[in-house]
Amino acid sequence: MLVLGIETSCDESAVALIELDSNARPKLLGELISSQNNIHEQYGGVVPELASREHLRNLPLLYDSLLSSANKTIQDIDLIGVTQGPGLKGCLLIGISFARGLSESMGKPLVGVNHIEGHLLAPRLDNPNLEFPYLCLIVSGGHTEIIEVRGVADYHLVTRTQDDAAGEAFDKSANLLGLPYPGGARLAALADTLKQSPLKLPKVMREQEGFSFSGLKTAFLLLVKQNQQNLNDEIIKAQLAFAAQEAIVDTLIHKVGIALKERGISRLAVSGGVAANRRLREAVSSIKGVSSYFPTTLHSTDNAAMISYVAAARWQKGIKSQDLSVMPRWPVESCSI
Ligand code: KG4
Ligand code: ZN
Repeated sequence: MLVLGIETSCDESAVALIELDSNARPKLLGELISSQNNIHEQYGGVVPELASREHLRNLPLLYDSLLSSANKTIQDIDLIGVTQGPGLKGCLLIGISFARGLSESMGKPLVGVNHIEGHLLAPRLDNPNLEFPYLCLIVSGGHTEIIEVRGVADYHLVTRTQDDAAGEAFDKSANLLGLPYPGGARLAALADTLKQSPLKLPKVMREQEGFSFSGLKTAFLLLVKQNQQNLNDEIIKAQLAFAAQEAIVDTLIHKVGIALKERGISRLAVSGGVAANRRLREAVSSIKGVSSYFPTTLHSTDNAAMISYVAAARWQKGIKSQDLSVMPRWPVESCSI
């Protein structure tokens, strides 16, 4: 079965083609991702209207070039999967309209996919040996949650953020250091130039339910202010970046440790943009008695391979989309059947 995936939920336009073999194992035939970081960087965040226009411009080009490089035509495609939510309304609308156009004009079935379900199953796309059940820590720009994945379309929320997402905590800390948006990866690169830092942040909100990064944000703001005069000093800046990264990773690992114990699960997958973080990968991999799984760096951040994979997995279970309206807010646990 050949499946086309389309992703436009935020600031990445992406398309992918996967083929499922007779054992339902996915093989990635090709994928293209066009990031809009350079457009939104100057505004310090994603501008929804600009993002929608970029998707409108990029999507047909990506689609044409994906099919021609894979030597396929629309006639060869058996199923289309498109991100239906959550995400930016106008951006989602571009992807859904494009997918509906293809689907209706060519008579191809279409599945609406929850973007977070894409992140939940992305670790399986790149690690076919990852078996159910597993805990998935999703850490992206808009989401931080721990979900127990019992099977395809069988998801149980363990906990989620009460305020900022982990990616936001990285990006806001990076912003305080004067790094351009989205600063998460830049802050991480700066932190990774050091092995330790004399600057430290207090461990906040450890005893409360769910994740919270607001205390950490305030503590980091104070620490930056205390070191304001030295912000031009690259070592001090790296020390601050190191302290922020350690505190964010520590919060994530602490909560994940509790969830693993409570649920008695020994498989942990990490997904979403922040899963690309080297320090987080290192800390997760060193949790004792737990096997850890990560998507490739490309499939940690937004991509369409994970969307086509979810579409195929749901379709094979006989789950069809009833309604293809835009779902800007769509909790992933409601995708369980
Ligand atoms: O999943 P994603 O690509 O988009 C959303 O759905 O949000 O995640 C983007 C987030 C941004 O906040 C970005 O700064 C963060 O992931 N990110 C990182 C790294 N790479 C991306 N944060 C920390 N370290 C990284 N290496
Ligand atoms: Zn995402």
